[in-house]
Amino acid sequence: MLRMRNIVFEFSRITEQGALAAYKYIGRYDKNAADGAAVKAMRYMMNILDFNGEIVIGEGEMDEAPMLYIGEKVGKGGMNLDIAVDPIDGTKLVSEGKNNSVCVLAAAEKGLILKAPDMYMEKLAVNETAKDAIDLDLPLKDNLLNIATALNKEISDLTVAILDRERHEETINMMKSLNIKIYTFSDGDIVTGLLTCMPFSDVDVLYGIGGAPEGVLLATAVRALGGNMQGKLIPYSKVYPNDSNCKELAKIEKERCAEIGVKIGKKLELDDLVRGDDFIFSLTGITNGDLVQGVHRVNNMATTETLLIRGKSQTIRIIKSTHLLDKKDDYLLDLLL
Ligand code: FBP
Repeated sequence: MLRMRNIVFEFSRITEQGALAAYKYIGRYDKNAADGAAVKAMRYMMNILDFNGEIVIGEGEMDEAPMLYIGEKVGKGGMNLDIAVDPIDGTKLVSEGKNNSVCVLAAAEKGLILKAPDMYMEKLAVNETAKDAIDLDLPLKDNLLNIATALNKEISDLTVAILDRERHEETINMMKSLNIKIYTFSDGDIVTGLLTCMPFSDVDVLYGIGGAPEGVLLATAVRALGGNMQGKLIPYSKVYPNDSNCKELAKIEKERCAEIGVKIGKKLELDDLVRGDDFIFSLTGITNGDLVQGVHRVNNMATTETLLIRGKSQTIRIIKSTHLLDKKDDYLLDLLL
């Protein structure tokens, strides 16, 4: 019987091709074109590989996303898997030529990954040493004190990463008053969240409200890296209370949450976000970043760097690949060159 272990490397090929396709659009100020290219390349790669996948986190519903929509079947046949993708985390980073954009995928045994709707999520992530110190039901200040104690640090020695958004102003001011080292970043909370679990990084905590799909992808990797993460689904109306779309979106969010059996605002433990360890997580850099290098290209040769994790064995690989672009399949050639 084919097991996850036998096909682990195949998944790195999918995010590699997604990143290579997005490369063409770095600094071109066209987010949608970059995203579209990564989506096409990932979809093509998935459909030549031996698994029977269903997209559970993707580019939206069928009517709003022509490819990699939720419910789309991918793969050539084989083991049944749920697939979560974020073809580009940091579309703006790619379009503006900034660091830390990545192409991400998680493949898991059916039913393992929370089918998070496209809404916001409050997230708190830490490494293994602080894994028992978090509780999103407590005020953030208490969490930070508990995390500092677990890490054997003064609270003023903590480094907390947080998305640079207006909605976080009060939180940032609270952390300033505690003299905490604050690392704000403009986009891409999968990479920054993962830094909490990386021995080379001084980021101790990721906190803040970002995308829920990104939250679930982050949770799979955090789980395999031994850390901990909790989340709460947050309605759009809480993030943008003055937006006229709030009412309409609230209805959709309520329906989606009912479908997956999750209450908006209820604390989700790591086990609720990803229920078990039979999964693979693959992340390839598009632009250079804190976690992996981006795509580098000279003429028809390109290099990629991929973080590939197998949940069960907790094996973590960094794969550096060299690609001769003119040797790719015809379909990919159009996207890459
Ligand atoms: P996109 O690439 O889909 O734009 O996501 C980038 C990102 O920064 C995520 O990493 C983060 O979770 C989310 O956007 C935050 O949402 P918003 O930009 O609406 O505050």
